[in-house]
Amino acid sequence: MAVFFVSEFSTAPPLASACLFPSADQTPGVKVLVTSGPTREPIDPVRFLTNRSSGKMGYALAGAFAHEGHSVLLVSGPTNLDVPANVDFIPVETAAEMHDIVSKHIGRMDIAVFAAAVADYTPATVQPRKIKKSGDTLALELVRTADILGSARQPFGFTGTLVGFAAETENLESNAREKLIRKHCDLVIANDVSKPGMGFDSDQNEVLLVYPGRTESLPAASKHELSLQLVDAIVLLSTNDSQPLTNH
Ligand code: CTP
Repeated sequence: MAVFFVSEFSTAPPLASACLFPSADQTPGVKVLVTSGPTREPIDPVRFLTNRSSGKMGYALAGAFAHEGHSVLLVSGPTNLDVPANVDFIPVETAAEMHDIVSKHIGRMDIAVFAAAVADYTPATVQPRKIKKSGDTLALELVRTADILGSARQPFGFTGTLVGFAAETENLESNAREKLIRKHCDLVIANDVSKPGMGFDSDQNEVLLVYPGRTESLPAASKHELSLQLVDAIVLLSTNDSQPLTNH
């Protein structure tokens, strides 16, 4: 997610639910990690860089996995959403915090779904005091953040089912397929964020499922409806991945 918005004097919205530490292995079904929301990269004590992600798709997916009886850990940047029922939740702010939390928990997961709109760049330095205006222009130096999804296979060593998201404004399928290969995913869920009423901050979405060797399209639906279809597709993928190889 390379688009940034600078927010000024914004207070963090209250996180809707208490941070529960994961109660691993209490639920039958598979163990699922979901990242969601935007990240928030501080510039100084009153400003940060962020993006338009509402977190709705990731939260809907986390809720749908839990509803199906799976054990879910949701790691999310700041949103205004309520944490879905029966979902363990760790709130984060920055890409670096999300990276640390994911690195600690991904090892025990069967499925990891990266729906977060993680900042690709963060300010090189965080000013300890509020930056006062002076000249007509102000240049901010930004440095790349760690690619969390791109770290899942290596160095995190995750061997489960890996699902990424691609929010694109052009060449949807080819850009998503490039991410699938580059980040060693089993599936990339791609949506065209330039379509009015779809994707970012909307309750609706329309996606392509980009797998190695094939692409499927899911028609426009509410994020709730879509999340149920996506959970079925991801769990099926995970079941097929874990089938022992047999000789015929
Ligand atoms: N992602 C991540 N960590 C990052 C950046 C992205 O985990 N630092 C994940 C997102 O959660 C999403 C996927 O990677 O699943 C998006 O891929 P990315 O290449 O970063 O997308 P964009 O930044 O939107 O694409 P581009 O490279 O074209 O700017």
